[in-house]
Amino acid sequence: MEPAGPPAQPPAPHPLVAPLSFLLGKWRGEGEGTFPTIAPFRYGEEILFSHHPSKPVISYTQRTWKTASGDPMHAESGYWRPRPDGSVEVVIAQSTGLTEVQTGSYDTEKKTVTLQSELIGNASKVKQITRAFQVVDGELSYIVQMATITNSLQPHLKALLKRI
Ligand code: HEM
Repeated sequence: MEPAGPPAQPPAPHPLVAPLSFLLGKWRGEGEGTFPTIAPFRYGEEILFSHHPSKPVISYTQRTWKTASGDPMHAESGYWRPRPDGSVEVVIAQSTGLTEVQTGSYDTEKKTVTLQSELIGNASKVKQITRAFQVVDGELSYIVQMATITNSLQPHLKALLKRI
């Protein structure tokens, strides 16, 4: 057997992904949901941002669960594609069948990403979705807002997750 060497350094991310590397890894935490038409609710959540250095893409998977019972709630997955012009494009498929194309910008110093929907597919009620992420002191927080056929753009979700 080969003698055990020093622990391998994680490979450097793809140059286009590097400015967004503050997102990479697995996060777990809790969130709360609101909207004028529904009863407020709390949820547990896990998010994984993963990446292979040969591709300029971050894979994104998210799942949520009921805090009381652990039963699954909403889940979604997709791809974050940082563009050479400094913008970012995100495609997401939700477990409800809704699909999103989001575009936006990021700030590497502030560790923020802001996205707004360019396209929403297969949605009966949702007209617009915005997503704003921020990493502060190693914690990931986000706010998701939506506009529906009956209500203007306003918060539906906010959550705070720790890296695990
Ligand atoms: C309700 C959209 C994420 C849980 C709703 C409604 C819409 C919606 C359109 C109905 C509002 C109305 O009838 O006026 C979305 C979109 C999401 C999202 C676009 C992501 C961008 C989530 C997540 C959870 C969740 C992550 C759970 C963790 C709920 C619950 C309700 C609801 C519990 C109320 C009951 C129900 O309609 O099932 N959502 N949602 N949603 N959403 Fe979301």
